[in-house]
Amino acid sequence: MDANLNKNGRGSWNSRLAFVLAAAGSAVGLGNIWGFPTVTAQHGGGGFVLLYLACILLVALPVMLAEMVIGRAGEKNPVGALKHLKPGTPWYLVGALGVITGLIILSFYTVIAGWTVYYFIQAMGGALTVPPGAEDSAAYFAGMFRDMIANPGYEILFVAVFMIATTAIVAVGIQKGIERSIKIMMPLLFLLLAFLIFRSVTLEGAGAGIRFYLIPDLTAITPGVIVLALGQAFFSLSLGMGVMITYGSYLSKDECLPSSAGYVVATDSLIAICAGLIVFPVIFFMISAHGADLNDLVATGAGLVFVIFPQILTELPGGTAATLVFGSAFFLLLAIAALTSAISILEVVTAHLVDDWKIPRKRAAWGAGTVIFILAIPSALSHGAVGWLSEGGWFGISFFDLLYILTFRFFLPIGALGLALFVGWVWGLEKASEEIRTGTPAFRLERLWHLMIRYIAPVAITIILIAQIVDVFGG
Ligand code: PHE
Repeated sequence: MDANLNKNGRGSWNSRLAFVLAAAGSAVGLGNIWGFPTVTAQHGGGGFVLLYLACILLVALPVMLAEMVIGRAGEKNPVGALKHLKPGTPWYLVGALGVITGLIILSFYTVIAGWTVYYFIQAMGGALTVPPGAEDSAAYFAGMFRDMIANPGYEILFVAVFMIATTAIVAVGIQKGIERSIKIMMPLLFLLLAFLIFRSVTLEGAGAGIRFYLIPDLTAITPGVIVLALGQAFFSLSLGMGVMITYGSYLSKDECLPSSAGYVVATDSLIAICAGLIVFPVIFFMISAHGADLNDLVATGAGLVFVIFPQILTELPGGTAATLVFGSAFFLLLAIAALTSAISILEVVTAHLVDDWKIPRKRAAWGAGTVIFILAIPSALSHGAVGWLSEGGWFGISFFDLLYILTFRFFLPIGALGLALFVGWVWGLEKASEEIRTGTPAFRLERLWHLMIRYIAPVAITIILIAQIVDVFGG
């Protein structure tokens, strides 16, 4: 038998480490390295960090474990797993929502990922230095970004490059594709991160940045900010659409699920916090060097990473060489983080096609990859390349933002709520615990987990969803 396949003829992880790395690779993405520092800066710094950690512990961690349990017990993608565990009921629709959410998320995620590839190439080629005689660096980099996003050719080309890389890995399978690539990319990601943190925290003005970032200011916490923190927690941990169900379905029965979930959550949170340690010193370096205003610097997420960051790179002590090394490392870090996340999303869709539609893996992956590429085109063109797709056009907000809000604020929380209710009330805590106990005979936090998945998580998510609806439709 092919070593790549387990007894069901499906793939399997070679070791627990492989599973934890792959799940952490899914979780650690643009949401951590770009999203987390940006929303933290926009919402008061340290207070937001504290709130985020509370959401992670109280809601996200229990849901993460629930997804892994469903996956390992159901031995399938989200649709197949729910059908298997509760046959003849409509609960599989929660899984179907997950697959659809995956298609949508990946269609806009690849656009940003494509930008990171473009900037990595620019950085490597030394193009992130302001040529002599050019206007000032702010105008120069704003121009570079504008040229990229307004150019349909670039936008589509880099989405294609990124989607081909993602699909090529998923098409090969669990051990030979995902596992093998993750085992190279994750250590590289940790190394790049360590290098970048070291460079950042030794910058002038770093102390002020770190203080703003890590000392909580509780006055900045409002109900709106709590809603955002939970949304960020789900997105960052890849929860609510069945990534952990799918990855969990390739696990063997003797693995310990609670500690795996703990490792994944800890890695993800740690990397989000570390990303702040790169970004905040850099922001405050800019503030101390130019008297720039924090709110201006972080007003748009895209601007922070693709305009402000390159600007700061040119001012690093060490001249052009420093710009080249630090710039390439930063954009490579972003591209790798995005790739390991994109792989997990495509795997959900692919697993669904393989398990439930009996389509061979290669054909399923390339088919899904092609569909996502086509779906990505309007998002790619919605940053100015095509007016009516862009902000202020026919949609009022850009097509990209529309998809982002729909999934980040609604589909992921609805999916997570569905999965929590499924485990807490429908499939049943007894069965879930039994599944956990096959690999963890002494599951010590069992009662606490029951309480959280049955009551705390559903209530918290429902409140957040109502708040979102009021916020989006109420005024
Ligand atoms: N967790 C990823 C990030 O932080 C994004 C993601 C969301 C991946 C949902 C999979 C599913 O960027």
